[in-house]
Amino acid sequence: MELIYLDNAATTSIFPEVVLVMQETLKENYGNPSSVHAVGRTAKAKVESARKYIAQQLGAQPQEIIFTSGGTEGDNTILQGAVQYLGVKHIISSPIEHHAVLHPLTHMAAQGLITLHMVKVLPNGFPDMHDLDRLLTSIPDKKLVSLMHINNEVGSMIDLNAVGDLCHQHNALFHSDAVQSIGHYQLQLGELPLDFAVASAHKFHGPKGVGFMYVRKKTGLGGLLLGGAQERGMRAGTEAVHNIVGMEEALRMSYQTLDEDTAKLKELKSYCLSALQEALPGTVFNGACYDMNLSTHTLVNARLPFDEKKAQLLTFHLDLQGICCSKGSACQSGSESGSHVLQTLLSPNENKFPSLRFSFAATNTKDEIDKLVSVLAAYAKS
Ligand SMILES: Cc1ncc(COP(=O)(O)O)c(C=O)c1O
Repeated sequence: MELIYLDNAATTSIFPEVVLVMQETLKENYGNPSSVHAVGRTAKAKVESARKYIAQQLGAQPQEIIFTSGGTEGDNTILQGAVQYLGVKHIISSPIEHHAVLHPLTHMAAQGLITLHMVKVLPNGFPDMHDLDRLLTSIPDKKLVSLMHINNEVGSMIDLNAVGDLCHQHNALFHSDAVQSIGHYQLQLGELPLDFAVASAHKFHGPKGVGFMYVRKKTGLGGLLLGGAQERGMRAGTEAVHNIVGMEEALRMSYQTLDEDTAKLKELKSYCLSALQEALPGTVFNGACYDMNLSTHTLVNARLPFDEKKAQLLTFHLDLQGICCSKGSACQSGSESGSHVLQTLLSPNENKFPSLRFSFAATNTKDEIDKLVSVLAAYAKS
């Protein structure tokens, strides 16, 4: 059976060209970038050239790009580092952030290191800007705001300029988890009112286990790991040269075809929205994902009109039919706790209906959407 992969917000397939570049790097550039001899210098040159390319693509300076093992490490380093090194005592975030943000925050709050403030979230998945303004006004001490650019479950895409400007008017640092946007949108980080951001290569057809942080220069952030001076002291440990080079290649390929891929994905998403509504009347789209101006074109989060009994076996049934998608967020899969994002956005009654996230890559086709919709429609009738 041919599998239909509609879970690209969880992870993407690696571009074959990226694999080739990585293989070559593993074979030829085995040096430790910290070694001063020729083999080390060649590896170092690869790392620095990747840093330069990524910085240039994102309107940043090379020293503002710090390589990490991915989004989780980036979020942890920025949030815990801000408390450890920058004297941040109050952090404002939202209940619909990824756990890579929420868990370090609740952990630090439980240890008494910070006071954690949660901004109200509107039913469409956007932070309530009046509430954010109120919170920022009420905290005189050193503070940081952490709000993700694109929500990984419902796709709502905040206005980084509006949020960042508000933060800076109140002297707050601003961090945004951009794991679902970098590679799909060409952000110009240096021009945005942002102090920190994170990205992860496996969300844009690169390897797993590598990502980067954007750390605006002169913020004074330090690292969490001790034991090496790599990455300007912000990330100790020998650099994974092959992963870094693979991420560079994946970003290059993603941005080379960005315009055509975006057009294709927008069409695919609107096709999916209409096909689901047509075949399954009563389908509702969560957050703002019905609106292409307010949400990413890479995903649809649909609440489906199935009763409790049908809902229970829904993902199992789709899996049997070769359709890979996610219940809420894939990072939660295997857990029975349900989605904290949908729990925040939906009423208990709305949450009785099953919600599924279908997330796309440019290689997905309308035929695959047709198959998905016909499997769902047949299941509804069964
Ligand atoms: C918004 C967001 N932040 C962080 C992460 C974690 O990234 P990584 O898997 O690279 O640790 C994910 C992964 O699903 C994500 O979607």
